[in-house]
Amino acid sequence: MAKILLTGDRPSGKLHLGHYVGSLQNRVALQHQYESYIFVADVQALTDNFENPNLVKESVYEVILDYLSVGIDPNIATIYIQSQIPEISELTIYYMNLVTHSRLERNPTVKTELIQKGLEESFSVGFLCYPINQAADITAVEGEIIPVGEDQQPMIEQTNEIVRRFNRIYGEGILKECEALIGKVGRLPGIDGRGKASKSLKNAIFLSDERDIIKDKVFAMYTDPNHIKVSDPGKVEGNIVFAYLDVFHEDKEEIDSLKKSYQKGGLGDVQIKSILFSSLEKILFPIREKRKTISKDFVMDIALNGSKKARKKAMVTLEKVRAAIGIKYA
Ligand code: TRP
Repeated sequence: MAKILLTGDRPSGKLHLGHYVGSLQNRVALQHQYESYIFVADVQALTDNFENPNLVKESVYEVILDYLSVGIDPNIATIYIQSQIPEISELTIYYMNLVTHSRLERNPTVKTELIQKGLEESFSVGFLCYPINQAADITAVEGEIIPVGEDQQPMIEQTNEIVRRFNRIYGEGILKECEALIGKVGRLPGIDGRGKASKSLKNAIFLSDERDIIKDKVFAMYTDPNHIKVSDPGKVEGNIVFAYLDVFHEDKEEIDSLKKSYQKGGLGDVQIKSILFSSLEKILFPIREKRKTISKDFVMDIALNGSKKARKKAMVTLEKVRAAIGIKYA
């Protein structure tokens, strides 16, 4: 039997190139090899967007549209919405007993997010506990292979700690451990050169961006601030245009020779940006076109059918978990 692949995204905006190279490409490539479950984590998105439920709801639709546009095939992969599987919430409650408060506060991803969102002084219990909810996402469908970006590695470790603790207390082999599968590029830098590409930092190129927007973003990219005249020698390290060319430009030899000319002097930012723009358009044009052919009704149909299927699987897991804990009365 094929192993189970599971992964998801928070619907708090559309997906961008960081998601594409971090995880989406892997999902598309592996959907034929593994039994795939791909979901939109709206319950998790509410943990830091609880005052903005409309953003979450609209993004559920947009993110599934992103999935379909990049080539996740709904006839092969099960696509679903987290909130439609209430069994995940019940599992979360049982797992909460297996994790200490201080362990959650030490989770590096949570720590970074609290700083980024300015929440260090005051954050909700719901937010702090989202890694536990994520362990429930994974174990509900017995996910083993988890394609994610590098920043999610601590979540996988935390999930496996919960799994081991659960099994030690309630019975070996009941829950399965999982492993992260980090994409070709675990961490894509933002176009402004400040940290990773992220929607909250507004420094990402979205899969659904129109051609003109992509062009504007590429031409506004951070390069080498000391490369003023075309004839000046330029720096390649820390230069975001080259970081993106390394990831998205097919011809590696051409990149090497571009880098050499840039370092020597004589190659302008406009030229390297034009080359990058064409490479990105090669990838993003077909994604954008496919997006236009998909209707909202189709998206919702896929998501609701997928949710029914995922729910059946989660129900089986929940029954096993309840029985193992000893709270089955009939
Ligand atoms: N935390 C992930 C993100 O921010 C989304 C997510 C929720 C997830 N549950 C998951 C990813 C389970 C992998 C497995 O992108």
